[in-house]
Amino acid sequence: MKTQVKLTKRLLSKYPNVKFFTVTAQNLSNKQKDVSLEKEKKLIEKKICKIKDSSKIPIVRKDNVFFKNFGKTNPIQYQLDSIKGGKEIPTDSVLKDILFITEMKHYCLVSGHDLDTIKDTLIFDITDGDEPFTNIANKKQDLVPNDIILKQNNICITSLLYGQDNATKITDKTKNTVYFFWFFGKVTDSESKSMINTLVKYLKGISQKKSTIETFKVKEIEESLGQEFVVTPWEVKGDIDYNRLIVEFGTKPITNKLLKRIESNVGELHHFLTRKIFFSHRDMDFILNEYEKGNKFALYTGRGPSGTTHIGHLVPWMFTKWIQDKFGSEFYFQIVDDEKFLVKDLTLEQTTAYGYDNALDLIALGFKPKKTKIIINTEYSKTLYKIALKIAKRITYSQAKGVFGFTNQSNIGIIFYTSMQAAPCFLPSVLKKKNIPVLIPAAIDQDAYWRGIAREVAPKLGYYKPAQIHNRFLPGLGTSKEKMSASQKHTAIFTTDTPQEVKKKIMKYAFSGGQDTLKKHRELGGNPDVDYSYQWLSVFEKSDKKLEEVYHSYKNGDLLSGELKQMLIDKLNKFLTNHQKERIKAKKHLEKFMLRD
Ligand code: TYM
Repeated sequence: MKTQVKLTKRLLSKYPNVKFFTVTAQNLSNKQKDVSLEKEKKLIEKKICKIKDSSKIPIVRKDNVFFKNFGKTNPIQYQLDSIKGGKEIPTDSVLKDILFITEMKHYCLVSGHDLDTIKDTLIFDITDGDEPFTNIANKKQDLVPNDIILKQNNICITSLLYGQDNATKITDKTKNTVYFFWFFGKVTDSESKSMINTLVKYLKGISQKKSTIETFKVKEIEESLGQEFVVTPWEVKGDIDYNRLIVEFGTKPITNKLLKRIESNVGELHHFLTRKIFFSHRDMDFILNEYEKGNKFALYTGRGPSGTTHIGHLVPWMFTKWIQDKFGSEFYFQIVDDEKFLVKDLTLEQTTAYGYDNALDLIALGFKPKKTKIIINTEYSKTLYKIALKIAKRITYSQAKGVFGFTNQSNIGIIFYTSMQAAPCFLPSVLKKKNIPVLIPAAIDQDAYWRGIAREVAPKLGYYKPAQIHNRFLPGLGTSKEKMSASQKHTAIFTTDTPQEVKKKIMKYAFSGGQDTLKKHRELGGNPDVDYSYQWLSVFEKSDKKLEEVYHSYKNGDLLSGELKQMLIDKLNKFLTNHQKERIKAKKHLEKFMLRD
């Protein structure tokens, strides 16, 4: 199966009896009806009609407790009673019918999803109550705290109280399915086994030669929930839980609905969006509302020049290029030689020089000077300083300390600097003398500047709040799960690395999800979900089809770790060879991009 399924500690401690089982069925055709299943339905209906009081069936009685606590009826109890009242078990399509029949045969709750809509790790968890959820009828549904849910990328796909979602439901076109057995009252292992066997038996009854059916118990605990990690502009540490960041930073997950809206405006989606490399946002709806009204937005992102650019930095920049091309936005790029001078052991001359060098990497990505303006803070200070002053006057030290974690040891320069990074959010409006919406694509480490400073002061200065779209950190080489970082040289592939250096670093350091021995790898297959070469390939390989092939052949053991690494090396070296040529060309055009005052 493509996706990992985990459960959280807090779910287990709140509901210690829960057990979940997964059954995946691939390459089945979803016919309208199956004669033997129809016969089975009739038998089950007959049996149900003979039951005197369905609430006394042990499993129903135990499960009812959960629903009663929320003032709701157990859907199984409800269905049993309606069958007794003369209704039939519904006939929809076989992959759904199988689910209904299993439920009615064993009085257990089963959910079913189109496996091809599942792209991320699935997590069984309890609700906080503010998780986004669109129910099966495609209506937004408010959830309540302490419900049991299954979520993907912090979006609920099934709630025990409110049922399944719309986006992942089984449809007539579904070929690959994943079913979940939800046990939350006590069931014994032999009871659960016989229930699962029933579903598997039905699936086998409709399977074809190439079909595969797999069953497993959800055992793995989602460790990162509750674990410590740090994400600030100057420190990114630990195993980051992006779902928790969404909650803590008050951002929103990128939903399928939002993706559809972007697609409907520009005709396609970047693979960074479909692969959830960009996973969170603030006010994208506002940006799209304005765009749909005919008001163009400007783009803003930047670089802290503390050394050579690495391929992680390119992620938000490549995405910015795509947005610019699709939406026709003007783009402002800030090089913060002041910030890196203040926080690193570097001279101002060094950070400015790195700034000019890093600008070449941006230009090499294909930006055009007509719509792209680069600012170097220490050189564009006449305009920027005035905006920063207006911002700084409206933010207290205590506010900034709360967001950035300044201490008595922080130098006073970095405290004021926070307004310098917020200033370009309003620069397009200042230059054009009218209010212009701004969208910032960047990794989530930069978020403190927007939530703590720019968005706070925007209404006070009469500007729109800047919107954000956040990318994850692409991992560095090595095993530490840390982000790629220029200050940890062994973790990074730099844009100026030679093909030999790239090969050596990846072969030696890229963490692999493969098995220790060739024999084991062929037998058990590798784990692409934790494999760094695979993650980097998902940035640089645009074709979904090719990436899927790599995923499956790695997972089933056909593709070896070394071969996967070689694929990444080839892809990266091709990219970098071209990038390095473009960098040289960019030197001639650099000045055309510079915003001067
Ligand atoms: P800096 O130079 O640390 O990073 C530049 C951009 O790259 C993102 N980033 C990454 N993305 C994916 N994977 C990684 N491993 C990774 N490491 C870094 C960062 O989030 C950033 O978007 N203070 C800023 C410079 C800046 C800026 C801005 C950034 C000034 N104004 C506006 C974004 C938006 C800095 O030092 O970025």
